[in-house]
Amino acid sequence: MNRRLGVLISGRGSNLQSIIDAVRERKLDASIAIVISNRPEAPGLERARAAGIETMSLRARDYRDRDAYDGALADVLKAREVALVCLAGFMRLVGPALLDAFPQRILNIHPSLLPAFPGLDAQRQALDWGARVSGATVHLVTAELDDGPIVLQSAVPVLGDDSVETLAARILVEEHRIYPEAIGVVLDGGWSIVGRRFVRQADRIQAGGV
Ligand code: GRF
Repeated sequence: MNRRLGVLISGRGSNLQSIIDAVRERKLDASIAIVISNRPEAPGLERARAAGIETMSLRARDYRDRDAYDGALADVLKAREVALVCLAGFMRLVGPALLDAFPQRILNIHPSLLPAFPGLDAQRQALDWGARVSGATVHLVTAELDDGPIVLQSAVPVLGDDSVETLAARILVEEHRIYPEAIGVVLDGGWSIVGRRFVRQADRIQAGGV
């Protein structure tokens, strides 16, 4: 697999920034070929421009339906020979036109320990539920929302005096740490999907398997 990334965003882009920084600091052996936003006003686009990365805005309303939109995304990403697509706060469900163009090659980051608290406002969900632990998950993307084999997770405590903001900030630190790491793991290969598990060859050898 080549090591060219396409990053899809909708907003602030702090996870995008963590990937940019990891590449720059050579903690992640990869290059970012393009950053695409579905919102032209997304602040994350400026982060990409500042790093000298090609940017593009593709608005869903300019396409007749999800298939047409996702097909346009796939065309742009294929044209740049992207090996791995990273959703980084991309606030759209991904449909077959993109999934089929990048089978097992789309990653997402979610601010909870999936399968707990999928969907919007995961940090608020954890707080409202009274969870004592939450965290961040990087997973391969499937047609289901916040589903798909888990590549890496990291847990953080939920404290008694947490607000949504303080909990989100604690989780975000872990997001920024594990997303670049998970991208490296996927790019390195030597893994397979067994059932719904993401299994690394190294894990199997350590466990005494084949
Ligand atoms: C992050 O919390 C991410 O887990 C979720 O959306 C948020 C995006 O934040 N999917 P940013 O745009 O990366 O700062």
